[in-house]
Amino acid sequence: MTTETSPALAGPKPRGGLEDVVATSSAICYIDGDRGILAYRGYDIHDLARHASFEETCYLLWHGELPTRAALGDLQSQLAAARPLPEAVLRLLKVLPPANAMDQLRTLSSALAHYDPEIDDRSPQAQYRKAVRLTARLASLVAAIGRVTGGKGPIEPDPVMGHAANFLYMLTGDRPSSTATRAFDVALVLHADHELNASTFAARVAAATLTDLYSTIVAGIGTLKGPLHGGANADVMQMLLEVGPDAAPDRIEQTVRAKLARKEKIPGFGHRVYHTEDPRATHLRRMSRELGEQTGQRAWFDMSQRIETLMKEEKRLNPNVDFYSASTYYVLGIPIDLFTPIFAVSRVSGWTAHVLEQYANNRLIRPRADYTGPDVPRPFVPREDR
Ligand SMILES: CC(C)(COP(=O)(O)OP(=O)(O)OC[C@H]1O[C@@H](n2cnc3c(N)ncnc32)[C@H](O)[C@@H]1OP(=O)(O)O)[C@@H](O)C(=O)NCCC(=O)NCCS
Repeated sequence: MTTETSPALAGPKPRGGLEDVVATSSAICYIDGDRGILAYRGYDIHDLARHASFEETCYLLWHGELPTRAALGDLQSQLAAARPLPEAVLRLLKVLPPANAMDQLRTLSSALAHYDPEIDDRSPQAQYRKAVRLTARLASLVAAIGRVTGGKGPIEPDPVMGHAANFLYMLTGDRPSSTATRAFDVALVLHADHELNASTFAARVAAATLTDLYSTIVAGIGTLKGPLHGGANADVMQMLLEVGPDAAPDRIEQTVRAKLARKEKIPGFGHRVYHTEDPRATHLRRMSRELGEQTGQRAWFDMSQRIETLMKEEKRLNPNVDFYSASTYYVLGIPIDLFTPIFAVSRVSGWTAHVLEQYANNRLIRPRADYTGPDVPRPFVPREDR
């Protein structure tokens, strides 16, 4: 056996989790984690959250500029035309065995590819049209998953309503209030893109093989599902529900302290990039409080704030995007199982923007691993001697 270090063992050591590794160039999203700055195509997230709709944000991510009125009107018409789901996909939804909504979303997003007439057209124009179609349909799909899981029939989109209102309408069957619509619209804007987060990176790695756009989004959805990524928002709500709104105020602190003592991670806290307040959390905190007050359900916000104070004192950790989105969605009446799928309803805009950027200037993404296995070459042991 070789006693010297194998040549394959030499070379640079990797950063755990690729922390701070710059893996590509991109003109889409800017994050300054020390100063808590997030911008899409140069526009500060605070300005977008205050003034832009989700549709304007999609256009911005895809084209690099805010749309003119005419361009926005065109995009709204394209989204409206694409929103109805293929009948076959709805049938498939009804025959799938009961499953987590993210699993259903992953499988049915993949099924959508079979009903896209341009699936094999690799021209930039067709790729863009597929990005619009997928963005429109993921919202319809998540609403339909919510309906069918709740034992109800899917609802056809309303061609006149915008994206946020349509989603709430297709989910509940009621025309949403302007307050609920705007709150959900802002949540979609806030979740639309976040540079090379795990799911976007997965989508870009897939895109760099020049696979089809649907496959890249299925990679993104599968990655988003994890509890360290998009799955955290549902976990936050489970934690709040475990204690319940009527418990003594300090029960929530006791619960969190017990989790920390067991070395458990508290969902909705910490971030790989932000070392200060996540600017998205600023808006979601406000929305959680305002909607809680308007609906007489402020208890979820109050509990959340107690957790935030405790986590700052004990761990010096700030809430991330998933923390206050949980109580915001809950008071909007959205089932917990749909919290992470809703993240995908928004993030599909960012995933597709990144995939189009990757296609436009592609090189296969194929890094190396720091080999830690047995020395090479390892003497082969014949079968009869093992
Ligand atoms: C987001 C996250 C995955 C980032 O992970 P990361 O950059 O690899 O950071 P680490 O997991 O190495 O955490 C660094 C330190 O902070 C602690 N920490 C990080 N997040 C924590 C949390 N949510 N609860 C308790 N402790 C936490 C870790 O235990 C670790 O402490 P140690 O150095 O004493 O061991 C991590 O913060 C996490 O798991 N958060 C909870 C899940 C979540 O909300 N995900 C959504 C992200 S938007």
